[in-house]
Order: sequence, then structure tokens, then C-alpha cells
Amino acid sequence: MHRTHDPAFWSGRRVLVTGHTGFKGSWLTCWLRDLGAEVYAVSLPPEAGATPLWDRLELDGVQDVRDDVAGTGWLAGAAAFRPEVVLHLAAQSLVSEGYRDPAGTFGTNVMGTVRVLSLVESLPDVRAALVVTTDKVYDVRQPTPFREGDFLGGKDPYSASKAAAELATHSWPDLTGRVVTARAGNVIGGGDFALNRIVPDIVRAWSTDETLVLRRPLAVRPWQHVVEPLLGYLLYAEDVAAGRDVPRALNFGPDAAQAVTVQALVEHAAERWRELRGPAAGGAWEVDPHPEMEETHDLTLDASRAQELLQWGNAWGWQEATSRTLEWYVRAADGEAPRALVLEQVADYVAIAGRAPQ
Ligand SMILES: NC(=O)c1ccc[n+]([C@@H]2O[C@H](COP(=O)([O-])OP(=O)(O)OC[C@H]3O[C@@H](n4cnc5c(N)ncnc54)[C@H](O)[C@@H]3O)[C@@H](O)[C@H]2O)c1
Repeated sequence: MHRTHDPAFWSGRRVLVTGHTGFKGSWLTCWLRDLGAEVYAVSLPPEAGATPLWDRLELDGVQDVRDDVAGTGWLAGAAAFRPEVVLHLAAQSLVSEGYRDPAGTFGTNVMGTVRVLSLVESLPDVRAALVVTTDKVYDVRQPTPFREGDFLGGKDPYSASKAAAELATHSWPDLTGRVVTARAGNVIGGGDFALNRIVPDIVRAWSTDETLVLRRPLAVRPWQHVVEPLLGYLLYAEDVAAGRDVPRALNFGPDAAQAVTVQALVEHAAERWRELRGPAAGGAWEVDPHPEMEETHDLTLDASRAQELLQWGNAWGWQEATSRTLEWYVRAADGEAPRALVLEQVADYVAIAGRAPQ
């Protein structure tokens, strides 16, 4: 059986979350509040005109601080909160933006992590801190699937900045046993509105009956619903907090069979879109003959260590993850409350994961 999180661990727990207004952070913070955690959260103010998922969740009981994690202004308030668990998700998270603004990307992703590490160092009450990085931290000259012991690298600023965040975390003196890194692959799920990510691009195009343009239809990605790595993060943090003997870095990705091409995902999404919206609704796509961005192909993670050690794994395959994601957007567009949709999918996922064979 897969393991699921321990609600008693999270109830009343003081948790510092960075990046709470982002895609993953919104789902995570919604889930943590539902579990009864006390959350102190730090993110940037929203960009003008943006309506991120976070603003639509209407969560209460979150101390919602807006500041730059790479600066020092937020540290005293966070320290006064006396967190017991730290979940560091704040990042410049887009490959495309890394090319546009390398200095800003390194600033946020490296110095932001450094600030979090120095905060944790100063707070002995922090029992577990988890730094979220990515499958892109690996040197792509190695064969896939990547394992945790493989060399780190990064040919673009985003990937290199995340690899540097890994190095900072694992070289920081005196944090061993309290701070770990979680390397996750591409995730999909409702409420992601970032540019140049496939699912938000699908929803933007098809909601307005436009043709979706694919940059690299044959790129293979390890697709995973956002709830899946988030459950992994909760389990990992629980184990670190309990002092269990877990590695200092773990991959969180789907089984190799779930890594399929962008095109396969889009074809499945088009079917689901027509099921939800009617046979005549959108779903058109074409290939961009001149892709601008250099992107890594065939990224896959070997997540067997997380599977064995945390008893965590894939409960929803890529098709279920895609279906659930499109359903989320369609039901939200039809007026259902985003918070209820998030919590419904979290509950469905946890119920399935708890029954799934290991
Ligand atoms: N979404 C994915 O597919 C994916 C895949 C692998 C890894 N990750 C990693 O997971 C984490 C969360 O990703 P996401 O998709 O939710 O990202 P996102 O871009 O949706 O959200 C980023 C969050 O970080 C905050 N942030 C950015 N710069 C900041 C700064 N200087 N100071 C304070 N806050 C700042 C933003 O306000 C936002 O809350 C990131 O570390 C990302 O690199 C994401």
C-alpha cells in the first residue's frame, strides 16, 4: 500500500511556506490549511493584471507576507512565527524567463534559497525544511532516468540556478538531517496560469477557440498531477521531522511508463475537452515550425528511492492527471469555487493513493 500523510502531524503545526501564491504553493497552502496547519507565507506581490489561483482560493488563517525572499526584510517576521516546518517553493520557475532575465533568476533561486537556509540555521525549532527544486537540476549529458546520485548541471539559467540552490543546500554547514531537497518533474493541475507551460497554454487557446501551437511535440515529459509530488513533500517533511533515516535529496516523478510526449498529452486533452465541452468544442493544435527556446528533451526521473523509502508513488497516471486537470478548469470556468475543487481533488487523490498497491 502507498502511505498517505499523517493529518495529526500537520494539525496545528507551524509551517512556513514560500511561494504560496504560485501554482504549487496555492494547492499546498490550501491543503495545509484544510489540515489545520498554521501557515506563515511569503511571496512576491502579484504582477499587475494577474489573477492567480491564490487570489481566488479565499483562504483564511494564513499570515500572507509579500516580500522578496532574496532580501532580508522578511526574515525577522518569519523567525518570530517560530516555524517547525519550512517548505521553500518560491522561485523564478520558468525556463523562458530565465533566458530573458538571468540575473533575476539567479537572484531569486540562489539567494532566496540562501536566505531560507540561514533562517533555518538560526532556528533550532525547525524540525524539517524542504527546498523544492526540479528535474532540470541534472547534467543532461548523463543517461536518463536521472538518479539522485547523478551529477548536477544546467545549460540554461533556470536549470543552473536550481542546481546552484541544491549545492547551497547540501553544502550548508550544520543543517544535515534537517534540510532536504525535493526534485520534481513537470506537474499539471487546475489553476496554473503561467506562460509557456503546456496545460495553461491548452486552456488559454481552447477556451477562446484558438489553435494551440506546440513548440516541441515529441519532447518526452514525466507528467504528474500536482497533488502527487505535494503528497510526497508532506511525507518527506514528516520523515525528516521524525528523524527517520531518509536521503538528503529525493526525486519525485512518475514511473517511466507515465513519461509521454507533449503530443500524446495534447491528443488526450483534446478528447477530454470535447467530452467536457461538447463534440464541436475546440481542441485544435499545430506544430510551431520555428521554436525559439532551447529546451531539454526526454527528461525523466528515477523516483524509485522516494517510492521505496516514503512508500509514495503514482496513484493517478498521466491520463487521469490530464483529465482531472481539464475538468478543474472547466468546472471553475462554470462558476464552481476553486477552493472546493482543489480540496475535492486532493481528497480523491489521497483516497486512491491510500488504496494503491506499492
Ligand atoms: N510547476 C512545475 O511544473 C514545476 C516543476 C518542477 C519544479 N517546480 C518548482 O516548484 C516550485 C513551485 O513552482 P510553481 O509552479 O508553483 O511556480 P510559480 O511560478 O507558479 O510560483 C512561484 C512562486 O514564487 C514566488 N516568488 C517568485 N519570485 C519570488 C521572490 N523573489 N520572492 C518571493 N517570492 C517569489 C511567486 O510570488 C510565486 O508565489 C518552484 O521552486 C519551481 O521551480 C515547478
